[in-house]
Formats: sequence, structure tokens, C-alpha cells
Amino acid sequence: MTDALISPAIPKPLPQSESPAKLAILASGNGSNLEAIAAAIDREDLNATIQVVIYNNPDAQVANRASDRGLPAVLLNHREFDSREALDRAIINAVKDHDAEWVIMAGWMRRVTEVLINAFSKRILNIHPSLLPSFPGIRAVEQALTAGVKVTGCTVHYVELVIDSGPIIMQAVVPVQPDDTLQSLQTRIQTQEHRIYPAAIAIA
Ligand code: GAR
Repeated sequence: MTDALISPAIPKPLPQSESPAKLAILASGNGSNLEAIAAAIDREDLNATIQVVIYNNPDAQVANRASDRGLPAVLLNHREFDSREALDRAIINAVKDHDAEWVIMAGWMRRVTEVLINAFSKRILNIHPSLLPSFPGIRAVEQALTAGVKVTGCTVHYVELVIDSGPIIMQAVVPVQPDDTLQSLQTRIQTQEHRIYPAAIAIA
């Protein structure tokens, strides 16, 4: 059973005549999902523009990726904010300052509050490396390996207050192989993330 056989059929891109969805990408680390979304836009598989990349770790690789692509990037270091709500208010300002309408959490490792959720109701998406509602929270791939599940995968969903909850937009299934390591499983899950995130944004 290959991953491709049980992955969802990706819908055809929408006609490009509609105005592009204006995205703010929130990321904490590597930024491979940012790259996948940007590549889908370049291929015209996703009618969108990335207005801004917001990141919270000064050393995050995603900042280099944004710079290589000439995308505006804003560092909001969570350590410099008194509360989660204060960080969320700064996020809202950065999103609005860059004229973005959608908040796309792509490896954003901070809990968000109702301040952000109320500001962009139904316009905040997240990707998570498991078949939700299984294995929410941190180290989802490790949780799946430890549980001994035979299939896992990834989920794109609308963000609600409870972490990794909210209506599911798209999932892809990844079989767990007997000799899988954390790294090998993570790599195959990410391959599927890069397929479904742009497709899910296109239909959200
Ligand atoms: C992705 O695998 C994403 O699913 C996960 O962080 C990774 C970021 O990768 N997100 C979560 O675990 C959120 N709960 P990237 O920085 O290479 O896009």
C-alpha cells in the first residue's frame, strides 16, 4: 500500500479569475509548508498571495526562506510579550498592516487565544501531523509511533480554541511501516502535508 494510493484526490485548482486569497503565514521553525504553499502559488495551483510571514523564533529557518522568496517577514518573539493575548494582538496588527485576510498556521507552535480566533473567525487554518482527533498536541508523530498505530497522516483544519480541534478540511493517510523511525515517518507525513495544505487552502 503506497501513500499515494490512499491520499485524497487533490481537487482541480479554482479558476484564477477570482481575486487571490491574501495569506499571512505563521511559522515557528523550518518552513517547508511555507515553501509548499509558495510553490503551489507559483504553479497556479493556488490562487493566493503571501502578504507576510510571521515567525516567533529569531533563528527560525522560515525567516531565510521568506527572505529568499522576497516575502515580507515579521519577527514577533513570544518571549517579549507579557501574555498570549498580547502576542495575539501583535499578530492581528501585523496581519492587518500587510493587508492579509487569512491566517495560515504552518508549524506555528504557540497556543492562540480567543483574541486571535475572534478577529479572524473561520479564516484561521492549521496543519497537524496526525489524523485528528488522534494525537493532538506536541510530538504527534512520536505519539503515533508509540501507540503502534498502523496508519497515521496529517490534517488541515479550521482553528478553534481547544488545541488541534476545529472542523476538518482535508486529511491524508500515511501507513506506518514496521521499520519506521521517527525521522522516516515524519518525512513521509511532510510529503503529504505539502500536497494537502495548498489544496485545503484552495477550498477553505
Ligand atoms: C509540520 O509537520 C506541522 O504539521 C507541524 O509542524 C511541522 C512544521 O514543519 N505542526 C504541528 O505540530 C502543530 N501542532 P515546517 O516548519 O517544515 O512547515
